[in-house]
Amino acid sequence: MYPLNQKQPWPRQQWWIAAWSGEVSRELLGRTILGEPVILYRTEDGTPTALAGVCPHRSYPLAQGTLVGDAVQCTYHGFTFDAAGACVRVPSQASVPDRSRLRHYPTVERGGTVWIWTGDPDRSDAVTIPDVLAMGMAAPGWANDISPMVTIRGRYTLLIDNLMDLSHASFIHADTIPGADYIATIPAELVDGAGSLAVRRVGRIPPNPLTRKQFPLQNGGVEQHFDAEYHAPALIRTGGDIRTEAGEPLGTQNFIHGITPETAHSVHYFVATTRDFAIADPALSAGNLAMGDRIQPQDVAAIEAVEAMLRSLAAAPTEVSCRADTGALKVRHRLARQIASEDMA
Ligand code: FES
Ligand SMILES: [Fe+2]
Repeated sequence: MYPLNQKQPWPRQQWWIAAWSGEVSRELLGRTILGEPVILYRTEDGTPTALAGVCPHRSYPLAQGTLVGDAVQCTYHGFTFDAAGACVRVPSQASVPDRSRLRHYPTVERGGTVWIWTGDPDRSDAVTIPDVLAMGMAAPGWANDISPMVTIRGRYTLLIDNLMDLSHASFIHADTIPGADYIATIPAELVDGAGSLAVRRVGRIPPNPLTRKQFPLQNGGVEQHFDAEYHAPALIRTGGDIRTEAGEPLGTQNFIHGITPETAHSVHYFVATTRDFAIADPALSAGNLAMGDRIQPQDVAAIEAVEAMLRSLAAAPTEVSCRADTGALKVRHRLARQIASEDMA
């Protein structure tokens, strides 16, 4: 049954978005990632750091500890750990016990996102992080509208399913995405790229309040990409290029979706919009964020409803798939292969 593998529902040799850059500060941030409590903070020189979030002494949550310089002090009995996770102080004795080290996770900060590596540290290689700068994140000439992270009570694979089949937009987002009713009728094409797999829909959207706000000088409808591009499995880019009906480029608007499993039945969801047109238009940014505030709860509600249904069933359901699921099914196979390859390693 989906999610693929009950023992190991996710790949571990993998980068994930741990937090937006703005969330990581000189305060300790606690976040569960792949079922493991983690703490995130910046050292005094500004470098993001990720350590295990459970004190090895008596399991106190270190998110409730304090920062002393670059070190984390547990506020229960004062065990103190440096930024590499080594225990450097036990107040009641002169030496530190063996095995009192905290796990240290490699991190990389890029394009307004802090990535965490959950696999063997010596296998971490930042080249496998999706190129968020090319998608417009914190890139010159682009505006970014970043929504607060939300945690969905549903397995992460349901969020991947949701994003890889945008035909759902015509139904659950019919009242929140202008032009959404057209999306399900646009034929989809699969594009197998280097390191990604995309379901591409390019459709004509009649003029609507959103296109008029985005491109006030443009009369008529637009030709718009509704791509769903999978970057295994931590990030999906949707949206894409927008042109006039005559094919003249108007700009690009991407939606960046970061997908980070919290537990086997919940997922952290990071959404940002990037655009390379009208970048200094605060009304457009405010409108994007407000629209996101209306769209996102619709996806969250659908995913949570499916999760609740799956958990209530005594046996795994037999699914019936349709043509629109082709991309999502390919992605499932890819993800299953990725997890299986780790099992063999
Ligand atoms: S639980 Fe952390 S020092 Fe005791
Ligand atoms: Fe959606």
